[in-house]
Amino acid sequence: MTEVTVKHLWKEFDDQVVLENVNLHVGDHEFVTIVGASGCGKTTFLKMLLGIESPSRGTFLIDGKPLSDEPGPDRGIVFQRYSLFPHLTVMKNLMLGLELRDSRVFGRLFGAARRRAVERARELLEAIGLQAAADKYPAQLSGGMQQRLSIAQSVICEPKILLLDEPFGALDPGITSDMHTLILKLWNMNKMTIFMVTHDLKESFALGTRLLVFDKVRVDPQSPEAFGATITFNIPLKGHRSSP
Ligand SMILES: Nc1ncnc2c1ncn2[C@@H]1O[C@H](COP(=O)(O)OP(=O)(O)OP(=O)(O)O)[C@@H](O)[C@H]1O
Ligand SMILES: [Mg+2]
Repeated sequence: MTEVTVKHLWKEFDDQVVLENVNLHVGDHEFVTIVGASGCGKTTFLKMLLGIESPSRGTFLIDGKPLSDEPGPDRGIVFQRYSLFPHLTVMKNLMLGLELRDSRVFGRLFGAARRRAVERARELLEAIGLQAAADKYPAQLSGGMQQRLSIAQSVICEPKILLLDEPFGALDPGITSDMHTLILKLWNMNKMTIFMVTHDLKESFALGTRLLVFDKVRVDPQSPEAFGATITFNIPLKGHRSSP
């Protein structure tokens, strides 16, 4: 069960108001898609949810509890550009998340814990269709394969919340429908809550259970940074909960 509540959230950078009075409630296992003009604060919103940026005022609650100050394994993120380690193989890139989480002291897993981790990584490699590429390096993969691996790297720790910041923006349009199938499969396998920023409204309707539009409700032409964006539309979308 994961519920996310945002109350009277403001974010300012010096004199610039980026977000103002954002309020939101998201129920368990939702797929939230976010659209809005460039620079309106979408990435900043995700960073606050991840815990790497803090609100100026207001709160984020997960299951009624305030967010901890540090990003934890309960939240994962995938950015538009790949986050893979070039000197590690596909398998090792995938295992890294688990190793960092489970063995803070040694940095490596041994025995039964390692066998479980390898098994989990193999399952995920199969889910993302990269089982034949386990021993390759990121540079030997296509852009789409690299992004599938980045997503799997975030999902392997079974985060309750997955944050996707235009994850398919750098990919050929031809492969986005495969990526959509994959992300819906992982969303259903892990029962997580997803927040995904996209600039493609069609993509929001195809994937989301809820669409958020970020926009400014007040604008001062003399002082463009005086007011921030907020959620101007919060639209429940019906759809594909049971598929695929
Ligand atoms: N660390 C920072 N310090 C100062 N200003 C920042 C910082 N991070 C973001 N900003 C500013 O906050 C505003 C919102 O940035 P953000 O990256 O959240 O926008 P965005 O909606 O994700 O835009 P895009 O669609 O182009 O990715 C921008 O004006 C940006 O310059
Ligand atoms: Mg952004």
